[in-house]
This record gives sequence, C-alpha cells and structure tokens, in this order.
Amino acid sequence: MPDRDSVPAADLPPGTVRRVGDWAVGNRGPGPDGQDRHFAVSRRCRHQLADLSQGTVDADGCLVCPWHQSRYDVRTGEMVEGPRGFLGYHGPTPGYTQLVRLLGSVARLRVRRAARRGSDVILE
Ligand code: FES
Repeated sequence: MPDRDSVPAADLPPGTVRRVGDWAVGNRGPGPDGQDRHFAVSRRCRHQLADLSQGTVDADGCLVCPWHQSRYDVRTGEMVEGPRGFLGYHGPTPGYTQLVRLLGSVARLRVRRAARRGSDVILE
C-alpha cells in the first residue's frame, strides 16, 4: 500500500497529473534516457489558486492550469506564461497576463523531487 507521499506509477502515465496531498504530481514523459520524468509542485496556481492537480501537461512538458491556462516550468516552479482571463472570463488580457506572469516568475510554485521507486512514484 503506497504511503501518503507516493502514487502508484501505473496511475501516472506520460502527460498526466494527480493529487498527492498538497502536491500536484505529474509525468512529463520519457527523457533522453528513456525514463519517465516525474515532477511534484505545490498544488495551488499563483494566479487564482486553481488546483493544479486538475491541470494538464503540454507538449513542452509544462504544467497548464485548468482555469486560465497559465503555464509552469515544473523544474523550477516558475510561471512561464500568464493567464488568459480571470475569474469567469476566458479570453485575451495582454497587459494583465504579462503582469501576472511577472509575479508568478518571482513567487514560484514550490518544487519537490519525485522519483520512481519500484512500482511507485515517491516524493522525496
Ligand atoms: S487560476 Fe490558474 S491561471 Fe487562473
């Protein structure tokens, strides 16, 4: 039985994200060595606190927020692209998007190491 800070690797195929406690744990897919690249970041979006464990992993391996699609580099926790909208509005907000991205590049998500151990992905 996996403990609180782990998830079965079978539940985390490439491109997926799951909740593990306060963390959004995901799989960026295989790296150059052929091994899956797992990650763990704090779960609340720096924009309006959406649950990032409900997000997606894009083709660049960034974590995408489910609410307004802010994008995060999961290696550093930095917001690399700001939100498209706010509250219930979804659409272009150029100046606002840049301002939030700037804030999100400073107030980064927390990052924790996630590694495969046997049949589980463990947060270290
Ligand atoms: S809450 Fe994440 S982008 Fe808005």
